[in-house]
Amino acid sequence: MANVSVFALLLLFFVASFTGAQTVPFIVLHGIGDACKYSGMRNLVKSLSRWSGSTGYCLEIGNGSWDSWTKPLLEQTAIACKKVKKMSDLGQGYNIVGLSQGNLIGRGIIEFCDGAPPVRNFISLGGPHAGTASGPLCGSELVCTLIDVVLQLGIYSPLAQQILAPSGYVKMPIDIAGYIRGCRFLPKLNNEIVNERNSSYRQRFASIQNLILIMFEQDKVIIPKETAWFGYYPDGALHPVLPVQQTELYIDDWIGLRALDEAGKVKFVNVSGDHLDISRSDAKTYIVPYLTDQTSVVPRQKLEHSSGWISSIWSSLWGMFGLNEDLTFLSNDI
Ligand SMILES: *[C@@H]1O[C@H](CO)[C@@H](O)[C@H](O)[C@H]1NC(C)=O
Ligand SMILES: *[C@@H]1O[C@H](CO)[C@@H](O)[C@H](O)[C@H]1NC(C)=O
Ligand SMILES: *[C@@H]1O[C@H](CO)[C@@H](O)[C@H](O)[C@H]1NC(C)=O
Repeated sequence: MANVSVFALLLLFFVASFTGAQTVPFIVLHGIGDACKYSGMRNLVKSLSRWSGSTGYCLEIGNGSWDSWTKPLLEQTAIACKKVKKMSDLGQGYNIVGLSQGNLIGRGIIEFCDGAPPVRNFISLGGPHAGTASGPLCGSELVCTLIDVVLQLGIYSPLAQQILAPSGYVKMPIDIAGYIRGCRFLPKLNNEIVNERNSSYRQRFASIQNLILIMFEQDKVIIPKETAWFGYYPDGALHPVLPVQQTELYIDDWIGLRALDEAGKVKFVNVSGDHLDISRSDAKTYIVPYLTDQTSVVPRQKLEHSSGWISSIWSSLWGMFGLNEDLTFLSNDI
């Protein structure tokens, strides 16, 4: 009898630890102008951890907000690569939740980071995966004219590439040659450069288990919003937006997206809301299931609305041009 109890206890212990070992940790990569220390990000990581039962980490690069603006994305990716390799908890594999620009760093970790632990699920919220085009929505204020001039004349200059992180993924459909020649990040990440395509990037990206691409129906920050699904303008024109399946990146499968899609591993999700403005229920429907292996009871926790992770390129550019004394308005969480 005693033996049976001991056995049962051992079994219970074994099952418990086995189930415990099954939960996969996740990292969150924030967007531009944001920081892990801001309450918006802290609440997001906490809520996702609680709902999924998995351990979540906010992975910071440098000092957060400032560095997210000014460090070239290749450098940011290299820092993130070193960090994930050092985090022993991720050794058996982990999931990534990317917000806006953070998605490109996440993809950079998967494609470029030699010897990194395997990424299982990649949940992308409002990622400028196919680039973002400048212009039409900034408006008619003087600052917008200034920004447009910088973006259109100087965005691919070595200087802009060196001091402005977003210059690494601004893709002007009317200057594809300049983009391929001067843009230092996205053409490499998307294997767009004819003689420099690296099959390792493709093979690595194609090896993840699920890719969840969340597009925000009212997104006015990334242009076009369909870039969150890898849709983009055709070379040389600002319309129409090509659905991902009609882009060369997909058709010739430069990064393994088509392979993933044909294996049923890509979910194209369309949610209502502006850039990164995801509701609790959508977060529970589209993010949480990929962070957890078991169906668990979903507690009614409030996902605080976080202006910290609503990272508007445009409003923050105002800050960069000195019209806003600092960037802390991005952290004014309620
Ligand atoms: C952040 O770090 C950079 C160096 O990478 C430094 O130049 C900058 O002043 C720092 N900014 C803040 C707000 O700490
Ligand atoms: C392709 O990328 C891998 C992984 O980063 C690297 O080891 C290799 O040298 C690259 N190949 C070429 C031809 O650049
Ligand atoms: C996204 O959802 C909205 C509302 O349901 C719908 O009107 C729109 O056509 C959808 N967009 C795409 C690209 O599926």
